[in-house]
Amino acid sequence: MCGIIGAIANVDIVPVLLKGLSRLEYRGYDSAGLVVVNDGLQRLRTTGRVSELGKLVIQQKACGLAGIAHTRWATHGEPSERNAHPHLSGEKSRIAVVHNGIIENHEAIRIRLKAKGFKFTSDTDTEVIAHLIAFKLQEEKDLFKAVCLSLAELQGAYAIAVMEEAHPERIVVARNGAPLLIGVGKNGNFVASDSSALLQSTRNIIYLEEGDVAELHSHNYRIVNCLHNQLGDIVERTIHESHLSSDAVELGPYAHFMQKEIFEQPSAVANTLEMVFNAQSISPNLFGNEAENIFSRVKNILIIACGTSYHAGLVARYWIESVAKMPCNVEIASEYRYRDSIADPNTLVVGISQSGETADTLAALNHAKKLGHHYSLAICNVPESALIRQTSLRFLTRAGPEIGVASTKAFTTQLASLLLLTVTLAKIHHLLSKDEERHIIGALRHLPVALQIALQVESQVKIWAKSFAKKRHALFLGRGVHYPIAMEGALKLKEISYIHAEAYAAGELKHGPLALVDNEMPVVAIAPNDQLLGKLKSNLQEVHARGGELYVFADVDAQIIESKNLHVIRLAEHTGLLSPILHTIPLQLLAYYVALERGTDVDKPRNLAKAVTVE
Ligand code: G6P
Repeated sequence: MCGIIGAIANVDIVPVLLKGLSRLEYRGYDSAGLVVVNDGLQRLRTTGRVSELGKLVIQQKACGLAGIAHTRWATHGEPSERNAHPHLSGEKSRIAVVHNGIIENHEAIRIRLKAKGFKFTSDTDTEVIAHLIAFKLQEEKDLFKAVCLSLAELQGAYAIAVMEEAHPERIVVARNGAPLLIGVGKNGNFVASDSSALLQSTRNIIYLEEGDVAELHSHNYRIVNCLHNQLGDIVERTIHESHLSSDAVELGPYAHFMQKEIFEQPSAVANTLEMVFNAQSISPNLFGNEAENIFSRVKNILIIACGTSYHAGLVARYWIESVAKMPCNVEIASEYRYRDSIADPNTLVVGISQSGETADTLAALNHAKKLGHHYSLAICNVPESALIRQTSLRFLTRAGPEIGVASTKAFTTQLASLLLLTVTLAKIHHLLSKDEERHIIGALRHLPVALQIALQVESQVKIWAKSFAKKRHALFLGRGVHYPIAMEGALKLKEISYIHAEAYAAGELKHGPLALVDNEMPVVAIAPNDQLLGKLKSNLQEVHARGGELYVFADVDAQIIESKNLHVIRLAEHTGLLSPILHTIPLQLLAYYVALERGTDVDKPRNLAKAVTVE
């Protein structure tokens, strides 16, 4: 999704803007732009990459002491230069705006402003903000006040940064439903939608809260909160020191962030489970101080999420129902939020999200609360995200920043956390003996090593990827707890290689998809040695007998023999409950190497965004 960076200092800030934008590239974008005050507003925009913007900066000698910049992921209006941010308004003293999120009432405001003579040059909702502020400035000469008054008329979730040509000594920024933070530097102040964009300038970060509007100067800043008062009351916000290492957001020796993140999984899972490794027993407090009390009251679980996080929830359903013996529903957030479902006060609502900013997941959790659900838990990778602030309990996956749009280490750390949740629930409800608990802790301690071993299939997967890359469609099959893993494998492949891939519960094959099977339709199967293996083997026979080409990821002891059109890669260990976590690894590698073969933009697949902060 869109990204914002702004800077005001006593030196040229253009390099800071460009570096910040390049750090925001991972969020997904289709155009980029910046404005600096350099003897008037100087605006550069491109539908190319941030590196293209860098070339424009050199050609047009852009420099300045204050500026705002943006990467845009199109929502209103096609990806084009005229729709790229910043958007300008005003005549005598122009203003410039960059914006993340969506203004829901933009059409009504546009009609009003057009009637007052404002000329629109883009199809974006953002331009409405620029003209509205310019309009308010006609009466209210102060930009800060004009912004506050304009925000009172805007509906939607957004973050903005605004500059005025006549007063280049300040940037005004505001947050309402989309993340925005201030970086407090020694020689300047900064604003960004993501702390990784500020690492080169400062580690002192203020996370703005809902309704905050701030004015930044090179040596000071002030924040007011306009949630209950149009013109706002001054508020103090804590400065946090960011511990994000720049290595975490740099590629290092890897070709892509996705590759780096796939190989980081052993350490990401180890970090996530660190508190368990050092303990003799699992403490409910890992989920928050109130966890024991809440967990002992809940009788069923409702999981809400989107995309890959939703797949993690689907895996958890199998675990929760079989180990913790609780009914568990898993809902796609964008569906749940508009459904009149029946609330049960004994339900624990679990929101899973890597970013903690996914608009549908946040709205679905609010919807659950309004329906009468009391207990909520966030499983999230970003400590300062909106999701974390919204729930009664929380568990942080400690995967570190995930940059590749296709989620990998976030997924496996979510699974590790959900397994921990399962055993905690089972323990509190007296369904787990001491021995069983010790056994599970032992298995979790071994998980990072098991993941390391699973990664060794890389060279075999690379060979498969060569023939796979020539195909246009693929089917993924799994059964039981590995069915959602098949779904995740299909999602990874379609996201980054653009091969059409669908997952089916293997038992459903003969109810439709078998009609598609021929030698042009590779079928990927996940074949762990579990109680469903016999059934799965029959399903594979059905494919084989019809000339389909099978690519099977089996457990070492699954006894599936290679033959013509039946290729097998074996995972070295058979790990019971943890099996879905390990079986994810070869599927991620397959998607990655197929995408490499096809020459796609692995980390920034077309049309997709990392954090979907709009509905
Ligand atoms: C986007 C990302 C996916 C992610 C999904 C949910 O579609 O590209 O990788 O799984 O959003 O995101 P969340 O941050 O809520 O897990």
